[in-house]
Amino acid sequence: MAITGPEVILTLKIAVSAVTLLLLASLVALLRGNYRLHGRINVVFFTLTLIALFGLEVVVRYWNPEIFDYFDPQTKRRLMIHLCFSVPAAIVMPAMLYTGLTHRRGLHLVLAAIFGILWIGTCVTGLVFLH
Ligand code: HEM
Repeated sequence: MAITGPEVILTLKIAVSAVTLLLLASLVALLRGNYRLHGRINVVFFTLTLIALFGLEVVVRYWNPEIFDYFDPQTKRRLMIHLCFSVPAAIVMPAMLYTGLTHRRGLHLVLAAIFGILWIGTCVTGLVFLH
């Protein structure tokens, strides 16, 4: 049986919720002064998010490019808004990892503010807008 568009979206919602819990756990570690744990959790966060992203790309670009053709014009507009957050978030994420691992604290914190906004936007628009 072929996987459907709504099933892909539900899977992504669960994946994004799960990695967001990891991100929150890494912030709790940070607040407790455990920078090393913060870093380790975020290496896992980064890896899992990347796997989810590549999985989605494989489904949408190669496996079944028509999978989201059922979107009506309103949902297509909502997808564009979602992408305005999620694409920049995916671009900033490796820079978060790099600046964290190399202890460029000032830059890491500036990027954290940007990434935080982009991630919240990604979650809100992804979880609420898309079905
Ligand atoms: C979103 C809010 C975040 C804040 C406020 C934050 C803040 C910090 C701070 C203050 C440090 C210590 C820097 C130092 O050692 O000088 C740190 C380390 C680190 N951060 Fe973040 N970070 C955030 C998100 C992330 C994300 C999303 C990633 C990865 C994708 C990440 C990866 C790391 C790594 C790998 C370290 C090094 C840990 C170690 O010393 O072993 N951080 N972060």
